[in-house]
Amino acid sequence: MEKTVIPRHIGIIMDGNGRWAEIRGLPRVEGHKRGVQRVREIIMTAKGIGVEVLSLYAFSIENWMRPEDEVTVIMGLLESALKEEFLNFMKEGVRFKVIGNRDKLPENIRTLIESTEEATGHNNKLVTQFALSYGGRDEIIRAIKKAMELNLPPEEITEKLISSLLDTAGIQDPDLIIRTSGEQRLSNFLLWQSAYSEFYFTNTLWPDFTKEEFLEAIYEYQMRDRRFGKVKIGAIKCT
Ligand code: IPE
Ligand code: IPE
Ligand code: MG
Repeated sequence: MEKTVIPRHIGIIMDGNGRWAEIRGLPRVEGHKRGVQRVREIIMTAKGIGVEVLSLYAFSIENWMRPEDEVTVIMGLLESALKEEFLNFMKEGVRFKVIGNRDKLPENIRTLIESTEEATGHNNKLVTQFALSYGGRDEIIRAIKKAMELNLPPEEITEKLISSLLDTAGIQDPDLIIRTSGEQRLSNFLLWQSAYSEFYFTNTLWPDFTKEEFLEAIYEYQMRDRRFGKVKIGAIKCT
């Protein structure tokens, strides 16, 4: 694959774990377990083809409203996956980062996240940004509060300033956002940052999302014509 047209930042809304399990007559937790395995494969593929940032929507701020046992299972899986993957992140040069409202996360997970972020902070092959307890609106509200604390005059409230106060500060906006499971919505993912992202929707459920389909999404992205509100160079004159 041509390096220059590889999306620099890809976001993935990893949806469909529950349905994957339900259609097999299994408890939803089995779908979440399978989902974790897919995450590993996609991180390695993204790194291999030269993607710079991978943002993975793993748990939304609205997901706290799920039944308590499901939330507990997801938090447990998260903890064990993070512990298991740590050495791999170090070996592969993957930087781990979390975006989202950390105050709502259990203390043990928060501590684990902080230590993993610190230990992997200098890894430079791929940034893997996990959206955990994440909501785009919540992130924007937190950014506005930070801006107000700075007591700035209105003319200093710019797009650049807001971007720098979001959890994604310093990270370029996503070029491509993929959502699995057939749903065609953002569900509060990267609202500000996705202003000019390309979207790829697939009916495949996340536990079935393979490396091949990931590459297919990138091929499709490569066919897109991104104009960012402008007209194409060489376009026919208006008048
Ligand atoms: C995505 O799968 C994982 C999380 C939201 C934590 P779901 O659990 O939403 O699966 P479906 O949409 O019910 O199939
Ligand atoms: C979005 O999926 C969040 C994640 C994939 C982590 P949901 O399953 O929670 O979203 P809705 O309810 O279908 O919009
Ligand atoms: Mg879902």
